[in-house]
Amino acid sequence: MTLSFASRIFSTALLVCTPVFVKADDTRSPEYKRGRLLYIQCRACHDLQPNPVDKAGPNLSGIIGKRAGRVPEFGYSAALSASEIVWDRATLDRWIEKPGAVVPGNTMAFAGIANATDRAALVRYIEIDSAPR
Ligand code: HEC
Repeated sequence: MTLSFASRIFSTALLVCTPVFVKADDTRSPEYKRGRLLYIQCRACHDLQPNPVDKAGPNLSGIIGKRAGRVPEFGYSAALSASEIVWDRATLDRWIEKPGAVVPGNTMAFAGIANATDRAALVRYIEIDSAPR
């Protein structure tokens, strides 16, 4: 009796708390933290939240689902502007791996990240932190 009462309380508490945990898990996960660390390599050139002033690279806010080369006023290369890329997890992964192989002639001065686990973490981080707030 006591046990079942306690377990009912426990499961109610779990139900109430679950949405909070799920949300917090996104930014507390080791993957997110690894991605945030890796993003230091990108931060000098890109912001993930809106900023009227572009850095050396285009603003990446809301990048998931966007066509490549569409930030107004940013001076893209002809190569990236002409590409038909839509940014999602897969295209971002390939771009971060080796930008020059995805769009030859692009002007992003970045050699790439060879480690697939690191790329997945970075893409996950970008996905979360570039989302509209
Ligand atoms: C030295 C500056 C620099 C660094 C470092 C850099 N970028 Fe870029 N990035 C650029 C430039 C410049 C472009 C535009 C390239 C073009 O027009 O050909 C670009 C384009 C992009 C685009 C396409 C955006 C769009 O609007 O289509 C993405 C996505 C991107 N970078 C992600 C990253 C990520 C992730 C990193 C870190 C791993 C990174 N960049 C590192 C300068 C940089």
